[in-house]
Amino acid sequence: MNNRAFYLETFGCQMNVVDSERIVDLLGHIGYHQVDEPAQAGLILLNTCAVRDKAVRKAYGHLGRFKPLKDRDPTLILGMGGCIAQQEGKQLLEEFPYLDLVFGTHNVHRLPELVQQVAEQRVRCEETDFLDRETRLQLFPARSGQDAFTRFVTVMQGCDNFCSYCVVPLVRGREISRPSAEILAEIRELALQGVREVTLIGQNVNSYGTKEAGELSFAALLEEVNAIDGIDRIRFTTSHPKDLSDALIECFGRLEKLCKHLHLPVQCGSNDILRAMNRGYTRERYLAIVKRLHEVCPEIRLSSDIIVGFPGESEVDFAATMSLLEEVRYAEIYSFIYSPRRGTGAAEIVDATPAEVKQERFDRMLALQQEISRQTWEADVATVQDVLVEGESKMGAGQLFGRSTWNRIVNFSGPAELSGTLAQVKIVRAYRNSLLGELV
Ligand code: 5AD
Ligand code: SF4
Repeated sequence: MNNRAFYLETFGCQMNVVDSERIVDLLGHIGYHQVDEPAQAGLILLNTCAVRDKAVRKAYGHLGRFKPLKDRDPTLILGMGGCIAQQEGKQLLEEFPYLDLVFGTHNVHRLPELVQQVAEQRVRCEETDFLDRETRLQLFPARSGQDAFTRFVTVMQGCDNFCSYCVVPLVRGREISRPSAEILAEIRELALQGVREVTLIGQNVNSYGTKEAGELSFAALLEEVNAIDGIDRIRFTTSHPKDLSDALIECFGRLEKLCKHLHLPVQCGSNDILRAMNRGYTRERYLAIVKRLHEVCPEIRLSSDIIVGFPGESEVDFAATMSLLEEVRYAEIYSFIYSPRRGTGAAEIVDATPAEVKQERFDRMLALQQEISRQTWEADVATVQDVLVEGESKMGAGQLFGRSTWNRIVNFSGPAELSGTLAQVKIVRAYRNSLLGELV
């Protein structure tokens, strides 16, 4: 009898988080259970991210750490899935002789069979073929059995945008929307199970349904979700600015369950660089969208992704990003130094900017944004906010945590029975990663 304990590490975005939930489910069906200690596991899986070189190196680093376990116990099965697996495929088996199993982003459903094959026949295997539309439609991740008050629901997968820096279209495949009837049925079911908040996820949810005849638009889908009893809050991510329709903007004024927070990655503030990135909008168009969002919903807070040091970025281009940050005043940003990705358009562009210059720009930008973020959070102090209570916090008995509409973690004391409800909490202190409050 094999050791049926598995250890799973997840890197990267929400798509991987959802795929990992599915992995837990699927392995459960063949008698495996999850453990927190790799040393106890008979199966170790890494669900990887390829979006930047740093993430790739981290995954390889972790894989290397498991090699001694494999040396000690040759029956241990080591597997890699996700975006690196998709991009590298068989090559990984050649490079890492102690790796047993490689599965791609379209092949998660095959994991039980692949694991059994490896375990029973002591073979190494790789499966990274992209699937056709029909098969993918049938395989959208379904609910897993975890109980939580907040859940991700996948509405679409893949991406057809080909931003010139981005590997996602290469490793996740073409864009595909899940039928709205199926999404709504899942959310109704989740509501019955006690889920109070859903985050609709996809690489670019704004283009949901636009490529399927007769499908709802994303704005119409949100409206339907808003009507589901039991669901108190709706979020969604990620949004591409070029596909943010007026109807969708208006949802922020109209749908009372839609949280007043939008992640709207701008990437940079210079029109020349935006063009080179193939983003499909200008700085002016983006700022017009931001203005419209504030008109429709004055309390809305935005967050963004920024790439510094895209090939050809001049000091003038960078200054345009800085001024955009000052103009928009994001509540927070996720910022990255450009990382060339094999197979993408930008990887072909000559990049003359020295790494030190990029790092220096990055640090300047971070300093500016940290001050803007700090001011946003300070503004929360003394306000009373609706907090969806997610449960008891690690800080001890009687300590609860939840999130504000702006997606900030709020810690406060209160009875555990408040879990799963919207509590009114007065904010008393603002920290970098959380707020401290008192139950009203
Ligand atoms: N280099 C740096 N950042 C990148 N991102 C995507 N590809 C790259 C890259 N090659 C960032 C973008 C995207 C976020 C998820 O990751 O900002 O919005
Ligand atoms: Fe990548 Fe652009 Fe698609 Fe986002 S929209 S996943 S950045 S190609």
